[in-house]
Amino acid sequence: MAFRSKLAIFVLLTSFYVWRSQYTLRNSILTSSPFPDGYFHGGNFSSQCETLNDESENNALKFCEDVTFWDLKDNEANLEERKVLFTCDSGRKQWNTVMGPLHKPEPHGSLWLYSPNENVATEKPSSLFGFGNTASASIKPQRITLENYPEGHDFHPLGVKVWPSYAGNSSNLFIVNHARQRTFIEQFVISPSSPTVATHVRTLSSPYFVSPNALALTSPNSFYVSNDHLITRRWPLIGHFVPIMETILGLPLGWVAHVTLDSDATAPFPIQTHAVTAPFIPFPNGVAISASGAQVAIASTSLSQIMMYSRNTSTNELVFRESVLVPFCPDNIDFDDNDSLIVGGHPHFLTLVKVVKGVVPHAPSWVLSITPRASESNLTEPPLNYDVMAPIPASSRVPATLSSEVVTLLQSNGVGFSSSTTGLRDSTTGALYVPGLYAEEGLLVCRPALA
Ligand SMILES: *[C@@H]1O[C@H](CO)[C@@H](O)[C@H](O)[C@H]1NC(C)=O
Ligand SMILES: *[C@@H]1O[C@H](CO)[C@@H](O)[C@H](O)[C@H]1NC(C)=O
Ligand SMILES: *[C@@H]1O[C@H](CO)[C@@H](O)[C@H](O)[C@H]1NC(C)=O
Ligand SMILES: *[C@@H]1O[C@H](CO)[C@@H](O)[C@H](O)[C@H]1NC(C)=O
Ligand SMILES: *[C@@H]1O[C@H](CO)[C@@H](O)[C@H](O)[C@H]1NC(C)=O
Repeated sequence: MAFRSKLAIFVLLTSFYVWRSQYTLRNSILTSSPFPDGYFHGGNFSSQCETLNDESENNALKFCEDVTFWDLKDNEANLEERKVLFTCDSGRKQWNTVMGPLHKPEPHGSLWLYSPNENVATEKPSSLFGFGNTASASIKPQRITLENYPEGHDFHPLGVKVWPSYAGNSSNLFIVNHARQRTFIEQFVISPSSPTVATHVRTLSSPYFVSPNALALTSPNSFYVSNDHLITRRWPLIGHFVPIMETILGLPLGWVAHVTLDSDATAPFPIQTHAVTAPFIPFPNGVAISASGAQVAIASTSLSQIMMYSRNTSTNELVFRESVLVPFCPDNIDFDDNDSLIVGGHPHFLTLVKVVKGVVPHAPSWVLSITPRASESNLTEPPLNYDVMAPIPASSRVPATLSSEVVTLLQSNGVGFSSSTTGLRDSTTGALYVPGLYAEEGLLVCRPALA
């Protein structure tokens, strides 16, 4: 091909990618918005949000990435207690396989347990939830010890998900582990009778686990997993710049797969099936499954979009329905019990990069909810003004969709809370949990005002 036509194709392709990434470029790279120190939807950030810290010497509870509920149910599947599990890695500034650097893999990250409803449940059996405010303020997070963990095996936890416990039985727990040679998924069991111990079952490894990031469980032994990049930083030479090009150009080289395991923990080949259910996604990060199991959402970090799918609950196949734009680079996502998708992410990517390099102390945070509109809302076109309560409304950054409503739940310039990765909302109490990738101050919890 002549040089000119090659150049023409190159320009065409580049323009296409720039056009497709326009919201990310404009909102999360070029613009740095004047966020407040801290905003909490419908409340007061300074009086209703606090951070959970590690009070021991080693200060391991910081730089947290993912948080999930561990539901304890009775034998009829009624919720009895909702515990919170979350992953942190205080060595993240020395070891981050997604953003770099790759200096020091030895120090282990940590897994934590928070039980906000425990005391309330024993003291007020007639009203399990809703009294959490005063009681939970005094409850401390506890570090979970990893029993039977292989000697010399790195532990850099990212995505974490746990199957509920029924009538006190133990739960399968899965954690994405960014170890030095490659990324694994670690399987543990954890039991309500000794909830601060997770016993290692096996390390899951596969040539398809190129860059796992987040998980969503479909049974005690199967899950969706996102693979955020095709080319990772671990690659020699090109690992320094090709993954960044993959991110910045929004190249559709990531995917989400569904994995089924042999439930026999001693099986020589633990992975029974691996099926790519959503191919060709630019930087797929969070993946979430709705309470009914009928919907799956995938966050594309580099396109600032949430992709919504219908799930066939018997085959786990996904059918794409629509995309919803968000005003930042989305990281992890979680459905609450009411089918609202809570999205956490990074409103200014370059500041986040500066935090990694130690140039600035914190990066901004933004968490929002995407809720399906009631069918009788009678809208004929997407509203121009929406999210009007927020200091920086999402409507000032991205257009709305007809099908769902976007509401900002949390916003901060980083002073109130830095580098949000996830929002997890407890529909039973209204509490919102937010980890921060480089938040020194631990896990943020915001509680609704006492009535
Ligand atoms: C929020 O709470 C803080 C601390 O309790 C208080 O000083 C401030 O006045 C409150 N703000 C509003 C708007 O109520
Ligand atoms: C606990 O019980 C539930 C419901 O019967 C079941 O799905 C799950 O596999 C059990 N967990 C373990 C670890 O046996
Ligand atoms: C799910 O897939 C099965 C097998 O292909 C098919 O028979 C069934 O109709 C599908 N269910 C839905 C809800 O599409
Ligand atoms: C939508 O239209 C129906 C029928 O015209 C009406 O009864 C209802 O109040 C409308 N809903 C809203 C939110 O305006
Ligand atoms: C979830 O739905 C329940 C019942 O419909 C409602 O009482 C509750 O306020 C909702 N929670 C949130 C966070 O929207």
